[in-house]
Amino acid sequence: MSRQKILVTGGLGFIGSHTVAELQQAGYDVVILDDLSNSSLQVLDRIEKITAAKPMFYQINMLGKNRLKEMFSAESDIAAVIHFVAFKAVGESVKEPLKYFHNNLLSLIHLLECMEEYGIENIVFSSSATVYGDPVELPVTESTPFKKALSSYGSTKQMGEEILEKTSAAKNIKAIALRYFNPVGAHASSLIGELPLGIPNNLMPFITQTAAGLRGLLTVFGNDYDTPDGTCLRDYIHVVDLAKAHVKSCDRLLQAGMTEKYEVYNIGTGNAISVMEMIKAFEEHNQVKLNYKIGERRAGDATAVYADVKKAAQVLGWKAELGLQEMVTSAWNWQTNLMEMTTVL
Ligand code: WQD
Repeated sequence: MSRQKILVTGGLGFIGSHTVAELQQAGYDVVILDDLSNSSLQVLDRIEKITAAKPMFYQINMLGKNRLKEMFSAESDIAAVIHFVAFKAVGESVKEPLKYFHNNLLSLIHLLECMEEYGIENIVFSSSATVYGDPVELPVTESTPFKKALSSYGSTKQMGEEILEKTSAAKNIKAIALRYFNPVGAHASSLIGELPLGIPNNLMPFITQTAAGLRGLLTVFGNDYDTPDGTCLRDYIHVVDLAKAHVKSCDRLLQAGMTEKYEVYNIGTGNAISVMEMIKAFEEHNQVKLNYKIGERRAGDATAVYADVKKAAQVLGWKAELGLQEMVTSAWNWQTNLMEMTTVL
């Protein structure tokens, strides 16, 4: 059978690049669309180093519909789209709601309009556990009710899912939304990983940059929560496991078949790890000492968020395989290799 072609929007980003590598190694051809606003063209070469196959690349901002249509005209045999393109800085989204609604929603709408026009029937959507807000139950299942999003970023994910559900019900489009919990780690090659521009919002890049001496001190945002060690619990998932969930989703859309036109899956490990447990694991497995202090709580943080992952295992045929040690060692190896690569360049 000829290799089926997958369009990956945002394919040079953190999760996108890992997904491209797994797609190619699973036998798919890949076309990447990225506007390079939060990624680097060097990632394309590094993907090629990993898979020995250089994906076709289009530098396009999805808000420009004409360029998008030109690409779809040139790439006529796309079997499915994986849509990562979005702004995702939670804090910034609170200060700049219109920037987030405009970019995240219009990019998705333009994509769906083009899919309808060019007869592309399958989409995997990058959603997030943030749609649950501070969840009303734990572990979180796919039926756990949404709470009002705490940020405009979270609103765009809730609205994005709504747009997909209604569009797939009315049009010849099948959709899978993957609700990511907390992606961490990096590819075993240390050639691709998280490239946060500016001060990291998330815990793991802040840990690795503090350990590397790029940041002076890591602040633990509160240790007075109602948890065993007082720090927040999260469901951290290795980015390579997360990438493989996208491959499984394409397999389901293109081969296995769907039971609904719109399906949703929690993509996590089902395990809750605290901030302090993450810090201790990082120090122990990497044999490094982290400079940290306990500070005030961060506004909007949920005490605990972790997934019920039965549906992805039973229906999607996917489950996380990499544990905490691989998460913290791969993140550290990437950080140290990134600094070597950057000084070399
Ligand atoms: C994790 C824990 C912090 C930094 C966010 C988005 C979510 C998804 C993943 C996009 C919390 C604590 C953090 C620090 C700390 N992104 N922390 N010191 O907030 O669970 O989820 O990123 O889809 O949508 O909401 O992740 O890594 O920011 O925080 O103590 O310097 O680490 O308080 O308990 P979060 P996070």
